[in-house]
Amino acid sequence: MRLKGGLGPALTPEALAERPVPALVATILQGRTGTPMPGWQGMLDEQDARWIAQQLLRGFPEVKQP
Ligand code: HEM
Repeated sequence: MRLKGGLGPALTPEALAERPVPALVATILQGRTGTPMPGWQGMLDEQDARWIAQQLLRGFPEVKQP
């Protein structure tokens, strides 16, 4: 929810800076075998995954600290 990681890694723009969009899209759609990261292919198409990857690289969503 805060994209800072926990069970998964941080998904902040800083953490993802070196990741090419197609690599993020592949991870989102297919997951990572052998890790808890599931594939979301059943729920998202490639366009959705590309949109999420781009938003993550841009810093999305804005996390409001309490
Ligand atoms: C729609 C929801 C999700 C999205 C968009 C998403 C996105 C991503 C992305 C982009 C990465 C790659 C990060 C990188 O390259 O550094 C990643 C990795 C990972 N995610 Fe997710 N994730 C989601 C849900 C989840 C859930 C529900 C879990 C676990 C319950 C999870 C566990 C992980 C783990 C463990 C990794 C690291 C895999 C590795 O070690 O290679 N993710 N996720």
